[in-house]
Formats: sequence, C-alpha cells, structure tokens
Amino acid sequence: MAKKDKTQFVCQECGADYPSWSGQCKHCGAWNSIKEFRESASPPAARGVGYSGARSEVHLLSEVNLTHTERISTGLHEFDRVLGGGVVVGSVALIGGAPGAGKSTLLLQALAHIAARFPVLYISGEESLQQVAERAQRLGLGQAPIKMLTETSVREICEVLAVEQPRVAVIDSIQVMFDPGCESAPGSVSQVRECASYLTQYAKRSGTAMVMVGHVTKDQSLAGPMTLSHIVDAQVVLSSTDDARFRVLRADKNRFGSVGELGFFSMESNGLREVKNPSAMFLSRAEKPSPGSVVTVLWEGTRPLLVEIQALVTESQYGNPRRLAVGLDQNRLAMLLAVLSRHGGIFTGNDEIYANVVGGIKVSETSSDLAIMVSVTSSLRDRIIPYDTVFFGEVGLNGEIRPVANGHARLNEAAKHGFKRAVIPKSNKPKEPVKNLQVFAVGNIQEALGVLGELSER
Ligand code: TYD
Ligand code: MG
Repeated sequence: MAKKDKTQFVCQECGADYPSWSGQCKHCGAWNSIKEFRESASPPAARGVGYSGARSEVHLLSEVNLTHTERISTGLHEFDRVLGGGVVVGSVALIGGAPGAGKSTLLLQALAHIAARFPVLYISGEESLQQVAERAQRLGLGQAPIKMLTETSVREICEVLAVEQPRVAVIDSIQVMFDPGCESAPGSVSQVRECASYLTQYAKRSGTAMVMVGHVTKDQSLAGPMTLSHIVDAQVVLSSTDDARFRVLRADKNRFGSVGELGFFSMESNGLREVKNPSAMFLSRAEKPSPGSVVTVLWEGTRPLLVEIQALVTESQYGNPRRLAVGLDQNRLAMLLAVLSRHGGIFTGNDEIYANVVGGIKVSETSSDLAIMVSVTSSLRDRIIPYDTVFFGEVGLNGEIRPVANGHARLNEAAKHGFKRAVIPKSNKPKEPVKNLQVFAVGNIQEALGVLGELSER
C-alpha cells in the first residue's frame, strides 16, 4: 500500500511546524502565518530531490587530511574576520539583512576580489543582468571577470555550476529560489528549506563555496531561521547602525570561526568600505560632556570596542516609574539598580531610568556593568564624568567588582584612543603600567563610587 502524504502546518515567518493549524504561531507569535504544507511520503531521492553526483566513501577519522580547510580571502578584511578568516572551500554561508542593508553590494565586491584568482559565479534571482552590471559599474568593478546567471530553479543552477565549476558562488537570494521537486509555493518556508539543502548538498560534494543571501523578517530573524541555520555552516547578519552610513556584520553561527565576531563597514557612494577603527566610529561624541554619559570597553568577538553608555534619571511623575534599556539587557539593568541601592546606598526606586548604548550596538557582555552603574549615578547626581575616563568590570550581587576577560587589551585600546584614566576591577590591574593611562583598580561598588567622587572633584 502506498504511504499517505504527510500534512504539516508550517509558520511562514519562522519555520516552526505544527501537526494542526492555529491562528497564531506559538514560537514567534506571528498571526495568520501558518500554512498547510503537504510533505511527500516518498523519500527525497525517489522524488529526485537532493543532488546525487557521486557515491559516498567511508574514511578513517584519523586519516582525514586536516590541512584541507582552505580559505579564500574576500579582499575585505572585516568580512574575512567575521567568516573566521575567509570563505571556506565547500562551505555554505548565509548572509542575512534587511533590504538595502548592502548584501548584494558586499558580495559583489567580494566576488570581484576573488575573481582575480578563481572562477566565480553570481546567481541573481531578484535583479536583472543589467541591474547587477550597473551596480558593478558604480562600484568600479565593471571589468572584474565575474560570471553572471539569472535563474531561480536550483536544479538548473546546479547544472550550470557543474559545468562552470566556480570556486565561489553567490545565490541572491535564497527566498526567490525554487525546486521543481518540492510541491509547496515558491517563497514558502518549506520551499526555502528544500532549496537551501539542495544547494548545500551540491556545495559539499563539489567543493564550491556557496554564499546565500537571505532576507530578514520584521523581527530581525532570517526567514525560516530554524530551518536554515542548521543547514548552513555560517550565518552572518548585516545590519545598519543608528548612523545610517555604517553597517555591522555579525556572525550568529560559524562552524569555522567564532560567533559574536563583528565586522564594520561604511556605505559610501562607491560601495562598502571597511572601518579599520570601529571604536572611533562609535565614539563620535558631543563636544561638551554631559551627565550620564560614560565610556566602556567591550570585547566583541576577538577585539576590544569602545562604546558610550548613556543614562537618564528623572523623577517619576506618576506612581509607577519606567525602566527602559535600549541595547542593554533590561533584567541586567534592574539587577544593577538593586545592587546600587543595597550596596552603594544610591536609591532610585522613585525615578524613571532610561539607559542606552550609543550607536545602536547591542551589549550582551557583563563587562559593561560598572559603566552602566556609573552612568546612572552620574545622571542622578547631575555630575559629569570626565571625558578621558573609561570604566569596565562586572558587578556581582554583593556589590563586588569582578574581573573580565582580556583586561589588558581593553586598557590598551582605551589608551590608543587617548583616554587618560580607567576604572577597572582589582583583579584586572595590570602588572606593568599602561603608557599614558592612570589605572584605578576597585574591588567593590563603594570603592568605585569613591573614585568617582575623586574624579569629579578634579
Ligand atoms: P544593496 O546591496 O542592493 O542591498 P541589499 O542587497 O541588502 O538589499 O544596497 C542597497 C543600498 O545601498 C541602496 O540603498 C543604495 C546603497 N548603495 C550605496 O550607497 N552605494 C553604493 O555604491 C551601492 C552599490 C549601493
Ligand atoms: Mg540585494
């Protein structure tokens, strides 16, 4: 007896699947996004789905040649860094971002660089040959030997790939691709999933590195993130900062590198340019220092980054004061306020508190604790923190200031940008003095507040 086709209900926003229909997706909360999807009972191979180019071989793990993770530089150091050192041969990367973020621009620039050494193929399903050629012209890359294909069928694409044998292929974008063997509608999560895995299988067997473009949905997640992120080797997201000129590339997943790595670019009239000194980009501060503004040194991926934290404390007009954190963890802010009250004697229970990270960066690291606290105190007391001072350190529930990783590199970064003083955890105190930087090592909140008093008296 033939097996019955299986009916599933898949959320078109996030890719979660359910055995029955419902009006709201329990996973992402989207309304009316769940659509019926009939999955064929016959295995993918029987339907002709999945690339089957060669027979699989069995290897001994100890005999696998480890020198094989060859990387191809994109010519953009910041892009390479986020990928973990360049595009890995045979790997599949997904690059997400809102429309207009610059995904096509970034990939065209990267391909132009790679094309000088290896054959490359740019597959566009969204834009015409003319549009891509015009962009290349604008970028000054009109003469780069990039091969182009406009096609949306993944089977056709793999056939062309098999003939052309590029080292790197770009798929722009995965959402417009379709697989004739998959029955659901183009653009649906199941179609995207099927196409991505078809292309991935091709990449793994052929050694062609593949970079797929994916659009993000309104909640900033890649469409069908749960379905695609386990298929691809690396998932990076390109997003704008508060200053519309700058772009940040972030690795959310990377089998060949570290996650959390950031790359910085600015969008110019002739394409994306690397920002070599991102700290400077986030520290374009107002001329006159104001209370509540404090600089901290974050550790992003493999390097330090100076960012400004602002707090505004105002007396609440109503009974229920608001606490709002932008770019920071709301719960962390609440915890720090509690510690400040209990161990620092600074009570903010009746005040509205707004905390913000300047530049649109999201801070997930605890090393910003001390700076957040100082910034709240500074705004509350209406005292200016001198511009040439940085703060970092984790704050514990007992009011102790705990050490953070890479303390020395953070201090060097601060000194490099002209900071003269740093208030840091005692255990991070450097053995050798840092040039041109006066270090105040503190063990708990009281000591930190003591240093603050000292600093603002100067
Ligand atoms: P694009 O790469 O098409 O974005 P995506 O593929 O992520 O949708 O870039 C679109 C934006 O970038 C568009 O608003 C114009 C701007 N842009 C520049 O400012 N300079 C340039 O050189 C290029 C090519 C684009
Ligand atoms: Mg595009």
